[in-house]
Amino acid sequence: MTQSSISSPKLEARDLTREADGKIIVDHVSMKVYSAEVVAVVGPSGAGKSSLLRLLNRLDEPTAGTVYLEGQDYREMAPRELRRRMGMIMQMPYLFSGSVAENIRFGPQQRSEDISDADIERLLERVGLPGFSDRTVDRLSGGEAQRVAIARALANDPEVLLLDEPTSALDEDAKAVVETLLEEIIREEGLTCVWVTHDRAQALRMGDRVAVMEAGRLLRIGSPQEVLNA
Ligand SMILES: Nc1ncnc2c1ncn2[C@@H]1O[C@H](COP(=O)(O)OP(=O)(O)OP(=O)(O)O)[C@@H](O)[C@H]1O
Ligand SMILES: [Mg+2]
Repeated sequence: MTQSSISSPKLEARDLTREADGKIIVDHVSMKVYSAEVVAVVGPSGAGKSSLLRLLNRLDEPTAGTVYLEGQDYREMAPRELRRRMGMIMQMPYLFSGSVAENIRFGPQQRSEDISDADIERLLERVGLPGFSDRTVDRLSGGEAQRVAIARALANDPEVLLLDEPTSALDEDAKAVVETLLEEIIREEGLTCVWVTHDRAQALRMGDRVAVMEAGRLLRIGSPQEVLNA
């Protein structure tokens, strides 16, 4: 590996900005996230954390600045390809009504790829839900539904995961299960992550670095100890 490929970021926001209804909700945010790194993003409600994630995979359009994925400006990439490479896990599991298998098949089908029953079962085993293929998603518990959402994201074989408070809607037991599961998967797959959380203890546990947002701006980014004890 060359020096430049070691030091070049997987994901980079440069002056990323979004103005909506005359208000700047994300304000010239620049940050680099390196391959297999987890950056935890903390900050008060309304700071722009979710808005930042939506800009990172272009669910919203920046009004200024841009994002580079492996050095390529994301405006030059097809949105569908971008979202395949960058999975998103939301606070409320992102699933449609139907079976677990149908939900997991959705992403690959979007690109005319078929995912085999065996591959679906492997993904379900990976999230601790063997045999759940034919279950109806409406009857799952919150923790189970979030684990299906994780399997669904993994079915796209992403390089980056954007996580928006993935455990905050869960009860204490499910929270611990889902956090541990995500941690294992992220480390095993070497996923590059931006993980939004309002839970500073979780940021400390999960973040290789921590970023603090306030009023749309990135106030600080650094090691968890340095940032959270500041
Ligand atoms: N589409 C929109 N149009 C106008 N303002 C918006 C829009 N979406 C979000 N905002 C505003 O942008 C600001 C940032 O919102 P955002 O949801 O990103 O904050 P957050 O840090 O994720 O907060 P929380 O911790 O409560 O989830 C808020 O003031 C919000 O009201
Ligand atoms: Mg939010």
